[in-house]
Amino acid sequence: MSEPRVANGRAWDRYGRHHLAQRTAVPVPDTIAWGFGTPGPGTAVLGPLAGRRVLELGCGTGRYAAHLARDHHARVTGVESSPSQYERAVAAYGALPGLTLVHAEAVDYLRSAEQFDVIISVHGALCFTSPDLLLPAVFAALRPGGLLAASVLHTNDLGEGPAETVEPSPQRLHFGDGEPETVYRWVLAPQLWRRLLAEHGFTGIVIDRLDSQTDGDPTSCCLILATREPR
Ligand SMILES: C[S@@+](CC[C@H](N)C(=O)[O-])C[C@H]1O[C@@H](n2cnc3c(N)ncnc32)[C@H](O)[C@@H]1O
Repeated sequence: MSEPRVANGRAWDRYGRHHLAQRTAVPVPDTIAWGFGTPGPGTAVLGPLAGRRVLELGCGTGRYAAHLARDHHARVTGVESSPSQYERAVAAYGALPGLTLVHAEAVDYLRSAEQFDVIISVHGALCFTSPDLLLPAVFAALRPGGLLAASVLHTNDLGEGPAETVEPSPQRLHFGDGEPETVYRWVLAPQLWRRLLAEHGFTGIVIDRLDSQTDGDPTSCCLILATREPR
């Protein structure tokens, strides 16, 4: 297994265990926050959702997956690789109608998944997984005409990034009490995301910057929208 996959798995599991011990509440949000410190375009970018099949890759506590199932009546699957984060999601939303929670790594899950109308990643698997592995798997799991919507970092909280090559950027971050953990994120320049998406067959690619509106916060995200062309 690759170093980023091992390190990211360790960090997120520690984070989940910390919040299980703290009994941190997991409220259902009333929209999707694609950026940090900015409202962003919310759920509207996903189009009508009632009855549509939606997949969230790296759903964490399942809060956004729950929002789309409960408030937009989508048929949602949330995939989460960390055992403790998955445990939090099941505890919070395991009984919610319209929501299926799966404990799996995203690329592994997509190998045998059915096709979806919409696939989202909100600071989720697309940030933490090699795009050369994940993007072809996402493309194959989108029905023709389907939409990928994903938020990724453009610059981190120190204002560092984005990378001009397809390499993960390591950063030491706190994921609970004690020592920080190293995590690896693909913080890529928009033209690199555009090139990768096109190489893997996506069309209709739109990438919007979402800069934090909090004074002094250099964090910036990109919201990526891309489609699998209808047949
Ligand atoms: C920043 S959290 C975001 C969670 C959720 N999308 C939200 O915004 O509340 C990132 C989550 O993605 C999960 N994750 C990262 N890489 C993944 C992968 N390859 N497959 C499945 N889950 C992954 C992590 O375990 C973590 O729970």
